[in-house]
Amino acid sequence: MNVLHIQSSPRGDKSNSIGLTNAFLSASRKVLPAIDEDVLNVWDENLPEFDAASIGAKYKAIKHQPMSDAESRTWNRILELIGRFQRANRIVLGLPMWNFSIPYKLKQLIDLTAQRNYLFTYDGKEYGPLLDIPKALVVYTRGSTYRENSKIPPSFDHQAPYIDFWLHMIGVHEVRTVVVDNAWNQDDAESAASVAAGKQSVERIVDGFW
Ligand SMILES: Cc1cc2nc3c(=O)[nH]c(=O)nc-3n(C[C@H](O)[C@H](O)[C@H](O)COP(=O)(O)O)c2cc1C
Repeated sequence: MNVLHIQSSPRGDKSNSIGLTNAFLSASRKVLPAIDEDVLNVWDENLPEFDAASIGAKYKAIKHQPMSDAESRTWNRILELIGRFQRANRIVLGLPMWNFSIPYKLKQLIDLTAQRNYLFTYDGKEYGPLLDIPKALVVYTRGSTYRENSKIPPSFDHQAPYIDFWLHMIGVHEVRTVVVDNAWNQDDAESAASVAAGKQSVERIVDGFW
């Protein structure tokens, strides 16, 4: 069972999202010891810039045109990253909310790997998924709480809706989510309780995920 474990916090062992996805995987190993984990921390990967060469490679790959040396270099690295998605039987993704959205390094990974004819198809009219991954778990951590009829309503949340959409679009059939609000606020005890509840939630997902 190959698991692509995407980490999007740069905070290492201080990170709540990494702590929670690690807790999920250690609980999982108790029921399924043969988990082959591929850790992709977007901050440690030295991802190529999504610059003119990357965009040139993207367009030329679609049109099967010859690439420059710089385009070929970035394209080979892009294919390597895409291969990690293609090998995965499951995806486990942890991510903090940053300014109501996702950390920019995770967006860089998405921009690099979201390549037509590799992760999805597009015929000018409609999109189709190219991966065939039964399940993903996404752990969303945030400092605040996003509730209906509050001063910070769910419309502020541009983190979970985008990632849920993107995973389905590339071919993840079922996206399980654990949302941990209040993970970092003025009340340390409240944050600790929220993260502890998040740990129980991820552990409850183990049964039935594999
Ligand atoms: C740059 C930055 C921006 C943040 N923006 C938000 C935000 O818009 N809304 C929110 O609720 N929390 C925000 N937070 C708080 C984090 O989402 C929260 O602390 C999260 O648990 C951090 O996850 P981590 O411990 O895995 O790094 C922000 C934190 C950072 C570092």
